[in-house]
Amino acid sequence: MPRIFITGCSSGFGQAIATRFLEKGWVVVATMRTPSSEGLPSSDRLRILPLDVTRQDSIDAAIAEAGPIDVLVNNAGVGMLNVLEGVDIAKACELFETNVIGTMAMSRAVMPAMRERRAGVIVNISSSVTLRALPALSIYSASKAAVNAFSESLALEAAEFGVRLRTVLPGSAPKTSFGRNAVARMGMDVPDAYGTFVDAYFQSLRSSVEKTEASDVADAVWRAVTDPDAPMMLPAGKDAETLFRESGRIAG
Ligand SMILES: NC(=O)c1ccc[n+]([C@@H]2O[C@H](COP(=O)([O-])OP(=O)(O)OC[C@H]3O[C@@H](n4cnc5c(N)ncnc54)[C@H](OP(=O)(O)O)[C@@H]3O)[C@@H](O)[C@H]2O)c1
Repeated sequence: MPRIFITGCSSGFGQAIATRFLEKGWVVVATMRTPSSEGLPSSDRLRILPLDVTRQDSIDAAIAEAGPIDVLVNNAGVGMLNVLEGVDIAKACELFETNVIGTMAMSRAVMPAMRERRAGVIVNISSSVTLRALPALSIYSASKAAVNAFSESLALEAAEFGVRLRTVLPGSAPKTSFGRNAVARMGMDVPDAYGTFVDAYFQSLRSSVEKTEASDVADAVWRAVTDPDAPMMLPAGKDAETLFRESGRIAG
C-alpha cells in the first residue's frame, strides 16, 4: 500500500487530504504539532505523528518514525493579513520559517530515500494569491511565491531521479481555520492611516462569490499525486481557476 506523509493535519486542508487518501486505501501519516485524532476518520491505515516543521529534531524524529514515504504533502502553513507597516518583522520571520523553510526542510528530509528508490512525489501547497497582487498580503504572498520558485527549481533536480514535484494553488477558503489561526498567531494591528483602505478591501473580499472548499484541495492533490501528466501548478477551487485563466495560465 502506498504511503503519504502530510504536514499540518490538525485542521483544514490537511484533514481533507488525509481523509481523501484514507478513503482511497492509502497508508496516511498525518502529522501535526499537537497530535490528535479529532477531525480524522478512524482507520488502521492512519498514523498520527507529532511534527513541527520549523524544528529539525522534530522533522528527523517524524521521518524516522514514518517508514518509507511515497508522497510528501507540504501543507503546514500560516497566514498574515496586514499592510507592511503593521507587520512585526519577528512574526514575518516566523511565517517564512513555517511556510518556506519548513517546506524546504521537509523536502530535503525525504529526498535521499526517494532519490535512491527513483520514485516519489512532493506536493507543495502554495496559494492563488501568487497569481494576482492583492493588498494586505505582501508577506504571505511573498512566502508562497518563494514556495512556487523553490518547487519549480527543485522539480528539475528531482526529475533526474524519477521524483516529481507539483504545487497546488488553493483559492480563498473561509471555512477552514486559516484566517482565525493567522490572526491568533500573527496579529492584525492595522495602522490607523490604512484603516479605511483595509476595511474597503476586506469588504470586497467578503463579497466575492467564488470560494474554495477543502474538498477542492483534496481533489487537486489527488490529481497531482496520481496523474504523472498533471501540470506543475494546479489551481484548487473555483476562484483559483478563475485567477488561473485571468493570469493567462491554462489549468491543464
Ligand atoms: N484557507 C485558505 O484560504 C488558503 C488559501 C490558499 C492556501 N492556503 C494554504 O493551505 C495550507 C493549509 O491551510 P488551511 O486553510 O488548512 O489552514 P489551517 O486550518 O490554519 O491549517 C494550517 C495547518 O498548518 C499547521 N501548522 C502551522 N504551523 C506549523 C508548524 N510550525 N509545524 C507544523 N504544522 C504547522 C497548523 O497546525 P497547528 O494546529 O499546530 O497550528 C494546521 O494544521 C497552508 O499552507 C495555507 O497557507 C490556505
